[in-house]
Amino acid sequence: MVNEGIDRVFITETEVQETVARLGREISDYYRGQENLNLMVVGLLRGSFVFMADLIRHIELPLTVDFMTVSSYGDETVSSGNVKVVMDLDESVEGKDVLMVEDIIDTGNTFNKVLGLIAYRKPRSLKICSFLSKPSRRKVDVPIDFCGREIPDEFVCGYGLDFAQKYRNLPYVGILQRADQ
Ligand code: IMP
Ligand code: MG
Repeated sequence: MVNEGIDRVFITETEVQETVARLGREISDYYRGQENLNLMVVGLLRGSFVFMADLIRHIELPLTVDFMTVSSYGDETVSSGNVKVVMDLDESVEGKDVLMVEDIIDTGNTFNKVLGLIAYRKPRSLKICSFLSKPSRRKVDVPIDFCGREIPDEFVCGYGLDFAQKYRNLPYVGILQRADQ
């Protein structure tokens, strides 16, 4: 079923779950066997919370979780890269193996700034997992270590991704109806 306001399903619920399971396996394989592993999974709120909740259940290693909320200020439609920390992490990242989790990397401006902030706090290692990526929109390079799906330049929502704070609860990823439809 397609919800009101959604034009079409872009990534089905089954495909979403297959993608998340595959990422969990890749992440588990990468970290498994690392000596003194101290894995801390850090999600950027609010977009990543649905994805991250599913993802950590596919990571077969001891881990902790923490969250951070950032907002970009300046131009509202295109992220400017002027990032403000609205809610910081509870725990220190120093000496830990930090895996940053994001819903989607678009221009890369937001994530690039957040990475800089985290790197400055001296984690032992720093890796990035993004559910979606729009490579054609990139303004700054972001080295995504674990990427769910690359998508074209379409505005998508569902599975944590919002439009005006709505649609985060959809179990699939959809494309919005245009205003003239
Ligand atoms: P960036 O700084 O341009 O990479 O912005 C990334 C942020 O923009 C993501 O964390 C999302 O919150 C938002 N975003 C980018 N593209 C989409 C989309 O297609 N749907 C919903 N949110 C998006
Ligand atoms: Mg976001």
